[in-house]
Amino acid sequence: MRLFKLNTSVHKWLSLFVGLQLLIWLGTGLYFNLMDHSKASGNELRVHSHHEGSITGFDLFPIKDIISEAPQEVNLIWVLHQPYYHLVFDKGQHSYQVRDSLLFDAVTGKLFNLSEEQVLTLAKNSYSGQGKLTTPVLSQPPFSDHVRQQNPMWQVAVEDENNTTIYLDSITGQVLRHANDDFRLKDLMMKLHFMDYGNSGGFNHWLIIAFAFATLFLSITGVTWLIQQYRSGLLKLGWGTNRQKVAVTFSNENTITDISAVGSSTVLEELASSHVYLSSSCGGGGTCGKCMFLSSTQLPITLSEQEHLSQEQLKEGYRLGCQHRFSEISSIEVNTDRNIENHELVVVATNFITPFIKEVKFKVKSGKQLAFKAGAYMQFDVPAGMNSLRPENMPENYEKYWESYSHGRFSHDGVTRHYSLVNFDEESDELTFNIRWQTAKDGFRAGIGSSYLGSLQVGETITAKGPFSDFYATSNKKVSRVFIGAGSGLAPLRSIIFEQLKKHKDKSGLTLIYGARTEDDLLYHNELKSLSEKHKNFSYIPTLSNPSEQWQGHSGYVQQVLLPYLSQKMALFPIEFYLCGPEAMMSEVEKIITDAGIPSNQIFKDKFSR
Ligand SMILES: Cc1cc2nc3c(=O)[nH]c(=O)nc-3n(C[C@H](O)[C@H](O)[C@H](O)COP(=O)(O)OP(=O)(O)OC[C@H]3O[C@@H](n4cnc5c(N)ncnc54)[C@H](O)[C@@H]3O)c2cc1C
Ligand code: FES
Repeated sequence: MRLFKLNTSVHKWLSLFVGLQLLIWLGTGLYFNLMDHSKASGNELRVHSHHEGSITGFDLFPIKDIISEAPQEVNLIWVLHQPYYHLVFDKGQHSYQVRDSLLFDAVTGKLFNLSEEQVLTLAKNSYSGQGKLTTPVLSQPPFSDHVRQQNPMWQVAVEDENNTTIYLDSITGQVLRHANDDFRLKDLMMKLHFMDYGNSGGFNHWLIIAFAFATLFLSITGVTWLIQQYRSGLLKLGWGTNRQKVAVTFSNENTITDISAVGSSTVLEELASSHVYLSSSCGGGGTCGKCMFLSSTQLPITLSEQEHLSQEQLKEGYRLGCQHRFSEISSIEVNTDRNIENHELVVVATNFITPFIKEVKFKVKSGKQLAFKAGAYMQFDVPAGMNSLRPENMPENYEKYWESYSHGRFSHDGVTRHYSLVNFDEESDELTFNIRWQTAKDGFRAGIGSSYLGSLQVGETITAKGPFSDFYATSNKKVSRVFIGAGSGLAPLRSIIFEQLKKHKDKSGLTLIYGARTEDDLLYHNELKSLSEKHKNFSYIPTLSNPSEQWQGHSGYVQQVLLPYLSQKMALFPIEFYLCGPEAMMSEVEKIITDAGIPSNQIFKDKFSR
């Protein structure tokens, strides 16, 4: 699996590298097609003149009397109508390679060096524009306008619109190049086209070789990925779009419905198109692990499923709806309600009830009363926009908790987020949620969903799907129930406890061990206290990790309170545990109770993390 993950990420990075260069090729190729070739050559204002003359009338000096060392090459050349011997002692295969040569007056036999004036005249003779030529400068390589040139050159800048520069051979005065802005643009395009980012002046360099290998690896990793997709069932080869019928069992209601769909999309998408919504907070990205279903057919296991489902769940046949095509399944079981709907909710009240938690109450705009099992949650569509890093208004006594958090706003994409209902359905016609404002950590933005919902004002609306019920009390009447929660994790536990006591008139033992930091952080403290006073079968055990001196209850984390409690109550079998809160707390508590011998089918968890 690790190898496959590596293969996929190597493929993605290579595609980025190869893709970027391909785009550059496309862009520069288009430029070469559309450019004006005569302008881009830099020679639009260049005049080609040949300094040739007749040696008749010149009494040439014998070469052998000039120098004793035999040159590799002797040329008689003309500079401003005068004959000169150009003696070349050493030179490479190409004219731009290092050359060792001297110029001698062919009449006097004296060593000759070009003067600035002569260079200026030669440059002027090669230029037909109106620009003013400046004083020549003898320059050493490297030259940005002639990257390959390894010999010194005279450089004459021209004051014209196109920033022309004339380059002449430092010994012979031969005009080697006219460079101007059009030429430089073409040169830049050449560099990009040939990946000549190291200025080698050609295309035979290591980067091109590396690129060729990268392209080869891109193909290999691509083919490997395709094979992997095919083997895991995510890639199907087939023709046509046959409709396919799948029997869907709703485990919540014990009902079966046939759903038929074309089958080319994922289980998640096809079910949604038939208004059967699996839970999802990543929109089908395979990162939340919430879109679970139970398949009757053996399906391959994808990387995402390895990551999000336990070995036990995989063995039982649980898979993720966004990871398999509808065409792969024949009958499935889903733990969601039929006819989950989208609702427009309108805010009817919003208040801070602890320093970081807001109680937000909604009504369904259409007036519809929603029926749901206590412990349910809804999936909110948070639109893209700008949110505040911290609340604009809060009760004065909570301001001290927010002092270290900065003001400001941040922009974000649209997201979906889940929030649990605090009340049970018959308790009120309102839908109550506890939203814990996820604060901005150093250098990061605040939580998108929590800051959006936490900022909603009375009268504002938001759309939400649900309620989804996959965490609820069993119908077992001969069982004691222990609820363990912390922070905003109290929400579904409160809902279940109230439903058990008020709706189902449950007479069995119910215990809530609830952890918070300080007295201020305790949610619904007075309400839970009076509930426990009214219902003798309900015990409320709050515990604080950072209590004030006045606190008379338990201190420490829920785990510390649970241990001695467990040893007293183990005799009360059967006993069911309902956990909701931060992930670390939940896994520690789960370990304690499984170590105490509680089987996993008596432990129910509501994971808030995605
Ligand atoms: C079934 C279910 C029920 C739930 N019920 C509740 C509930 O009743 N109440 C409740 O409050 N929550 C509940 N949650 C959790 C809730 O859905 C959200 O996950 C939670 O509010 C955080 O979402 P957010 O959009 O506010 O934060 P996100 O935008 O997801 O950010 C999370 C945190 O990451 C930080 N962060 C931002 N950028 C970066 C970065 N680049 N690197 C590192 N960190 C960064 C943010 O500051 C923030 O603290 C529930 C979740 C599930 C699955
Ligand atoms: S929707 Fe499938 S993992 Fe999130």
